[in-house]
Amino acid sequence: MESVIVAIDGPSGTGKSSTSRAVAAALGLSYLDTGAQYRAITWWMTSNGVDVQDPAAIATAAAKPAIVSGTDPANPTITVDGVDVTGPIRTPDVTSKVSAVSAVPEVRARITELQRSIASSAATGIVVEGRDIGTTVLPDADLKIFLTASPEARAARRSGELKGTDVAATKEALVKRDAADSSRKTSPLAKADDAVEVDTTDLTLEQVIECVVTLVEERRCATENTENTENTEKPAAR
Ligand code: DC
Repeated sequence: MESVIVAIDGPSGTGKSSTSRAVAAALGLSYLDTGAQYRAITWWMTSNGVDVQDPAAIATAAAKPAIVSGTDPANPTITVDGVDVTGPIRTPDVTSKVSAVSAVPEVRARITELQRSIASSAATGIVVEGRDIGTTVLPDADLKIFLTASPEARAARRSGELKGTDVAATKEALVKRDAADSSRKTSPLAKADDAVEVDTTDLTLEQVIECVVTLVEERRCATENTENTENTEKPAAR
């Protein structure tokens, strides 16, 4: 079976992470959470006294942290300078600062390079989730999915994940972060022209996973059929 690269983009609360992990696990692919990488570099900036409101300071420090992502969908890991930051990168403090840090072009260049290198070394293929994967990081991905959902549905899901948080406050924070991520100059959150849009508002997680698994399998079949046709059309070698 050919290696396959799947890009899954969309705003937060659309079920991107759960879907991407489950699809990767179901199809025996690697999995990369690129949001975790931006959170990890944000965590490093705040832990090392870099002012996240100072783009020049962030740009200067962007190359310093060593960020390593484990790509097993059953156990995705992330370390910064050897420290496991799986928990610390999910704090409200990091969440409130990550848009500012990820808007800095030097940060994006650094993390994009890391993402391309991870994707190119995944033997059976990989599911990469983020905001700019289909548009910028992996424009030649075999399949691009753009997940959407109403702001209400997204806020309700995020509040459920962060048990006990106020849905209205979560919605406000989420809409604010989306606006920042969509309006930044360098590789904003955007749907690629050739991405398949899936509105998850009225779908269960299982339905979204099934839908994406089917799309990957269809794409794999289409690719294999094209290759077989090309092979049979080639003149026999002498
Ligand atoms: O998916 P997440 O909520 O963990 O992402 C955290 C932030 O990282 C998000 O607000 C924007 C940024 N991000 C990005 O700019 N580009 C990506 N490919 C992934 C995430």
